[in-house]
Amino acid sequence: MFKLPNQLRLFPALAGVVALALVASGCGTSKADEERGRALFIQNCGTCHTLAQAGTNVRVGPDLDDAFAAARAAGETDSTIEGVVKAQVENPRPSTDNPAVSMPAEILVGQDLDDVAAYVGRWAGVPGAAPPKVPGGPGAQVFASNSCGGCHTLAAAEAGGTVGPNLDEVLVGMPPAMIEKSIVDPSAEIAKGYPANLMPATYGAEISQKELKQLIEFLIDSTAKGGGSK
Ligand code: HEC
Ligand code: HEC
Repeated sequence: MFKLPNQLRLFPALAGVVALALVASGCGTSKADEERGRALFIQNCGTCHTLAQAGTNVRVGPDLDDAFAAARAAGETDSTIEGVVKAQVENPRPSTDNPAVSMPAEILVGQDLDDVAAYVGRWAGVPGAAPPKVPGGPGAQVFASNSCGGCHTLAAAEAGGTVGPNLDEVLVGMPPAMIEKSIVDPSAEIAKGYPANLMPATYGAEISQKELKQLIEFLIDSTAKGGGSK
């Protein structure tokens, strides 16, 4: 496993980028759409990064709350952090000597990058940040908090993700034990036509037994009548 780089090593690297990023971003990007940025983050960045407000928990790359908490506490503004994030995506600076754990360049560009950078700038390192509260009971909250909707469509959660299968369709008639297995051990069986290793393999460890039960009940209730997305 790739170990989370410690902040002492990360912070000097960050400081260098801040100056650069300030110049590059020209400051004050107001046209960015943070809501869209959140969905894009979940799909494109949450597969490697933890960020509390996005509900992502993967730690292939640094935990972005940890990475920016000190800078924020030291008074850096949203737009400074936004600039750092943008510079990192445009031109990733490796933090280790191991290319296998490095961040690929230009995962996102243009408006997509603007929106993601604004979103991360708004939330990374904000104390107490959490996913937005959603209506619909505890299972709906587990679904939202774990960003399932960033990748999956589920009408009951008002989620329109298209990275993974449409849950309104595939969950109809699926036995609860199989739904559970798909969530906690996604690589056991890969849905036809979809890539392996894309759905985070960490939910088994990160969703409590109680929450998992609530989530599965929510999924079954939501799709019991043949799905709601038509
Ligand atoms: C394939 C995994 C992967 C993906 C996808 C990924 N990153 Fe990274 N990211 C990393 C790694 C690993 C690092 C540590 C630097 C390095 O070694 O490349 C990193 C570093 C960073 C840093 C610097 C953090 C610090 O402590 O200085 C930021 C900011 C960042 N990523 C943002 C993003 C954003 C935004 C996206 C989505 C557009 C993204 N990353 C997508 C793996 C990834
Ligand atoms: C980063 C994108 C991503 C996230 C986040 C994600 N999934 Fe998935 N999911 C996929 C992909 C891609 C597949 C198809 C490949 C596979 O079977 O692993 C999949 C497969 C599934 C399946 C099996 C579908 C079938 O046809 O057999 C279920 C059920 C599922 N996901 C539920 C969830 C739930 C619930 C969450 C949140 C706890 C979640 N997923 C989060 C991408 C994602």
